[in-house]
Amino acid sequence: MTDRGCELTRFPAAAQSLTGGVTGAASRHMSLKVLATLIVVGLSLLLCSAVSAILILNARLATNEETTEAFRLAQTYIDARKELLSNSADPLNEASELVEDVDRAKHVAAVLLHPDGSVHPLQPGHPRATTSRVPAWFAGLIEADRLSVDFPILEGGDAIGTIRLTSDARDEIHEVWLDFRKILPAILVAGATSLTMSLLLVFGILRRIGACSETLRRIRRGDLSARVPSQELQEFAALAGGINDLATHLGRECEQNRQLLSRLITVRESERQRIASDLHDGMGPCFFALNAALHEARNLSAQLPDGVALKQDLKAALAALARHATSLQTESRSVMSDLRPMLTKDTTLADALADLSVNFLDIAPNARVSLAVGKDCPDSFSELVDLSIYRFAQESVLNAIKHGAANRIAIELTCAPADRCQGLTVTVTDNGSGPHYPDVSPSYGQIGIADRTSALGGTYKRPFRTQHGVVTEIWIPCP
Ligand SMILES: Nc1ncnc2c1ncn2[C@@H]1O[C@H](COP(=O)(O)OP(=O)(O)O)[C@@H](O)[C@H]1O
Ligand SMILES: [Mg+2]
Repeated sequence: MTDRGCELTRFPAAAQSLTGGVTGAASRHMSLKVLATLIVVGLSLLLCSAVSAILILNARLATNEETTEAFRLAQTYIDARKELLSNSADPLNEASELVEDVDRAKHVAAVLLHPDGSVHPLQPGHPRATTSRVPAWFAGLIEADRLSVDFPILEGGDAIGTIRLTSDARDEIHEVWLDFRKILPAILVAGATSLTMSLLLVFGILRRIGACSETLRRIRRGDLSARVPSQELQEFAALAGGINDLATHLGRECEQNRQLLSRLITVRESERQRIASDLHDGMGPCFFALNAALHEARNLSAQLPDGVALKQDLKAALAALARHATSLQTESRSVMSDLRPMLTKDTTLADALADLSVNFLDIAPNARVSLAVGKDCPDSFSELVDLSIYRFAQESVLNAIKHGAANRIAIELTCAPADRCQGLTVTVTDNGSGPHYPDVSPSYGQIGIADRTSALGGTYKRPFRTQHGVVTEIWIPCP
């Protein structure tokens, strides 16, 4: 297992600008935390309301039943005493006593009314339970339809008054309200307790899911040392174990890939070196022989008498041959130096980079390429690291000139002191237009840089705009 990062997305900056990034995608979805909280709070409110509604419905049915029963009893009682009333000497007084009797009963109210609708003054009434301290909404919920019946009082066939009997649930509603006030806090406490416990459970689950997704996010960003902390719950322990195994497996695969890539690049470089050496060794003697033969031919042609025909033509042809031989030699040197930039062991990386900066004048005479090498940087790193830095600088400077039309380019090599090694950074900053993401995709140049840095366990940042210009950067870890 390696503790080095591993680039799981080869060009993360470009990938994110194309997809809007993970955060962007996540922010488009509703948070599970919000949803779960809403559901739990909603369910608790629903539960409390349902229990209260059942209690109220039950109380309403019971009150209605009791009131109807009391009303029927009172009705039967008045019916039974009606005969006596009509035979009485003073039916109105008799009726008044009857009303007083009935009005004393629970759940009913009786009044004696004159024919004009006014209440009989003899009707004394008695204190009844009051609903004044019961909230109107509660009384409205409990109370069913009021029952009412009128009993006319006759004297000699004429109506001299009316006994009005009505159902009256106020005393019962008052009792129910007192009971309800005792039960309501219990319902609220039970609701709040279940709400708190549900929220604790939901947040506990969310915290564990959060730990898993944070680890996955770090793994996705290439931190393969990330692990989910150990979990007590069986299901989460299995999930965490799966994610941790995946990270271990990815770490191994990444390290293997890195080694393979490193081997591939080493083989490629040694193959280029072999070709460069073969060219050098094979063509060097040929050029030497060609130049010697040309020299000889020139000498011989010079010895020809001036009058000899074709002497001038021969001299011109030999001069052209010499020019072609020189340009062929220059061209083959350039191919060899491209195949193997730092052919000699004595060339330091800084010298090779300085040569590179000067060579760019040939293709872009107006461009100024500056070089700054940090004081803590050694003359050379390993051969592969030197070559990777060289090729990165070469490709990035060329890109800045070719694609960004830059004319001021700075190559900067920064290293931490050897005893506090944190790797080395190479930046190429240009004053050109910079690439237009997301229309631009990497081609062979950038893919080659990414492969080289990744083979060394490093990272490559494609050109990005800053206030100081367009910056392209690689970071290579300590060997
Ligand atoms: N410094 C830069 N300024 C502007 N555009 C750039 C720069 N570097 C790279 N690019 C863009 O990135 C693309 C890919 O670069 P590269 O992989 O080197 O391919 P190539 O140079 O062969 O086109 C280029 O075609 C170019 O559009
Ligand atoms: Mg290029």
